[in-house]
Amino acid sequence: MCGIVAAAARREVSEILLEGLRRLEYRGYDSAGLAVLDDDARLLVHKRLGKVAELEKAQHAQPYYGPTGIAHTRWATHGEPSAANAHPHTSGDRIALVHNGIIENHSVLRQQLEAEGYVFTSATDTEVIVHLLHRAMNGCDDILKAMATVVDQLEGAYALAAIDRENPGQIVGARQGSPLVIGVGIGENFMASDQMALRQVTDRFIYLEEGDMVRITPASIAVFDAQGDAVERETTRIAEAEETVELGDYDHYMLKEIYEQPRALAATFSAAGGHEVADSAFGECAAEIFDRVKAVQIVACGTSFHAGMVARYWLEELAGIPCEVEVASEFRYRKRVQIPGTLLLTISQSGETADTLAALRDAGTDDFVGSLVIANVDNSSLVRESDLVFLTRAGAEIGVASTKAFTTQLVGLLMLTIALGRRNGLPQGREQELVNALHALPDYVQQTLALDTAIKALSEAFIPKHHALFLGRGIHYPVAMEGSLKLKEISYIHAEAYPAGELKHGPLALVDDDMPVVAVAPGDELLEKLKSNLEEVRSRGGELFVFADRQAGFTSEPRVRVLAMPHCPEVAKPIIYTVALQLLSYHVAVQKGTDVDKPRNLAKSVTVE
Ligand code: AGP
Repeated sequence: MCGIVAAAARREVSEILLEGLRRLEYRGYDSAGLAVLDDDARLLVHKRLGKVAELEKAQHAQPYYGPTGIAHTRWATHGEPSAANAHPHTSGDRIALVHNGIIENHSVLRQQLEAEGYVFTSATDTEVIVHLLHRAMNGCDDILKAMATVVDQLEGAYALAAIDRENPGQIVGARQGSPLVIGVGIGENFMASDQMALRQVTDRFIYLEEGDMVRITPASIAVFDAQGDAVERETTRIAEAEETVELGDYDHYMLKEIYEQPRALAATFSAAGGHEVADSAFGECAAEIFDRVKAVQIVACGTSFHAGMVARYWLEELAGIPCEVEVASEFRYRKRVQIPGTLLLTISQSGETADTLAALRDAGTDDFVGSLVIANVDNSSLVRESDLVFLTRAGAEIGVASTKAFTTQLVGLLMLTIALGRRNGLPQGREQELVNALHALPDYVQQTLALDTAIKALSEAFIPKHHALFLGRGIHYPVAMEGSLKLKEISYIHAEAYPAGELKHGPLALVDDDMPVVAVAPGDELLEKLKSNLEEVRSRGGELFVFADRQAGFTSEPRVRVLAMPHCPEVAKPIIYTVALQLLSYHVAVQKGTDVDKPRNLAKSVTVE
């Protein structure tokens, strides 16, 4: 999704801006641009459709150098991907502005501005902001004051950075609903939508809060809150080792991240205690909140939603706690009846997903005993706005398709189940079994990764297909959902997941010899029922790909291909079967030649609703 980079320095900044954009490429985008104020305070702008590499070519062909600049990668919402719609947008040849988010009242503002003679050159919602800023500069010589009057007129979400030819050497920014972070340098300062963009220039960051505005110059940072009062925001130093984003010997980030799972799972468990499940792994006041929990409401999107679906089985079966799971974009707009004593649990890799964040904000905490987030990015908006936090230690996840984030979320969710379960009669012996399973998890995942070649062989059958069906029962239904999401996301094969028992209620009509059916079939108590469901598929000529526990009694035969999975404890199964399905999708996508790490139309961090 859109990315912002900005730099105010005493040296040339265009290369810093381009490097920042390259570091944000993983988030997904369709066009890119930069604007610099050169030493003569001339405003110079390059914008290109396509990759940052196209912008670099433009910069090499005609270098624009200067000590102050802003840059952007755009993911189209209003107006098609094009150079004209790319940011920065300019007004009056003096102001340039970049924007993440969506301005909901842009149509009415546009009409007003057009009536006043402003000429629009793009179809974006953003262009209204730069013209409003230009208008506000009439009779005002301070761009920050002008920006304050502009944001008052905006409805929607924004992170903004702007430069003005008449105010050289400074950049102003504002945030509401979209993240913006300040990078603190020595004799230079920066802004970005994600601190990852600035890691090459600083390790010190100031996270702006909702409604904040900021002015940076090479020598100063001034932050103002929503009331316009000057405020001090904490500076956080991020250790170098916390993030490595090098691809190394892997062909794709997705594959690297799949293979990092044993380490990520172990790191997540050990950072949160390692030998036992302590309440404090969820925050200082976790014990006090957990004592009052009678139910859990999980809210998340996409893969994180699937993690929540798995957790519901654990919370109800192991901890005896009622649990509801809902996608954030639906939860927000539904009139709900809340069980007293409900914990609001959000799950998000990025911690910035707009729908999930809005759900947390809209829910308020009045109806809940508290809010807990399971997130992978420290200092993200969800982390800063939740009462309790469990940080997964997946490390930076670059591939748009979420892999290690999902499995580490499941570690956090199982630990939560234990923490709540022990208050609700989970026997000590059972708790110890679960802790032992958490310890052994990296090893089971390693055994699953060893099946990579066999999974690649299975994947070849999917290459000419246009559709696939994923089946699972019980806790493995959400695993099937996650498997089908991975396949459609990166290989563009239409895939659907069904609880296996639902097959005969409709989807069986789709089954013929052109429809591969993937079955998640660990040897659990539903095995016999699942076997009958699979017979229903086979007898209609469907080709089956069964991921089964090696002790489950499945054998390959014509039109039934079985992958023998490691035998492991029940709670480890959703994790290792997901890993196998990640590999399946990965190999299908690679052989189909799609852009595995940056699938079309998708963004890593979905910061618009
Ligand atoms: C997963 O492969 C997807 N890219 C997507 O569904 C993702 O999980 C979803 O957008 C939620 O993101 P989050 O975990 O950062 O909130």
